[in-house]
Amino acid sequence: MSSCCSSFFAANQRQFSDAVARRDLTRYRGRGPDQTTRLLRDAILGAGHGKTVLDVGAGIGALSFELLAAGVERVTAVEAAPAYVAAARQEAGRRNVSDRLDVVHGDFVSVAGAVAQADVVTMDRVVCCYPSYQPLLEAAVRRSRRLLAFSYPRDRWYVRAAVGLQNMVRALFRNPFRGFVHSARAMDALLAQHGFVRIERRATLKWSADLYGRADAATTRTR
Ligand SMILES: C[S@@+](CC[C@H](N)C(=O)[O-])C[C@H]1O[C@@H](n2cnc3c(N)ncnc32)[C@H](O)[C@@H]1O
Repeated sequence: MSSCCSSFFAANQRQFSDAVARRDLTRYRGRGPDQTTRLLRDAILGAGHGKTVLDVGAGIGALSFELLAAGVERVTAVEAAPAYVAAARQEAGRRNVSDRLDVVHGDFVSVAGAVAQADVVTMDRVVCCYPSYQPLLEAAVRRSRRLLAFSYPRDRWYVRAAVGLQNMVRALFRNPFRGFVHSARAMDALLAQHGFVRIERRATLKWSADLYGRADAATTRTR
């Protein structure tokens, strides 16, 4: 494990505990992927998934497993919470895909340089768990050969109000974890600076699921 910020790890570990990982794994086995995961999966499959995926903040690995089942050859999942790392490895064994899924424990911002580039980089509901979107997105675009697919809470007053309320409750219970609603416009501007253009956006009331591609490769489909 590597980190520049031990307070992030402590808060993250408390939020994404063994019990939460067990609950998420049971839900995924019973009901399949959550809505944002389905939206990102379908956007990636529509654009052509390529051979390799880097799934940042993979959780129990739902998006990784969906893409492996759809034909992606190899996935590297980077995950900061030890409980999720263990759950993802366990599920990979159960699905007989351990040889195609490499689960790396760490803060992606710190370990990105040691992780191989991939055709597609994904971050499903991850930027909202990290105080600054900038280092995460910058590390993500550097590792992406073609596509970046990520979901995040929409930058709307009612989403900000709900996330603010959740943070207040956490503070009351001395839970140091905080959720963040980052500016969609600022994230788009950062990605544009790095040569990525938005290919599509799918939204629910709370979430946005965006697919970006390298401007020079955005229209190229690969399987
Ligand atoms: C809300 S969960 C989403 C998990 C999964 N992607 C999903 O949608 O089911 C956010 C995940 O991002 C991870 N995470 C947040 N910041 C991270 C970072 N800098 N490096 C690695 N993982 C990170 C957390 O540990 C957590 O597992």
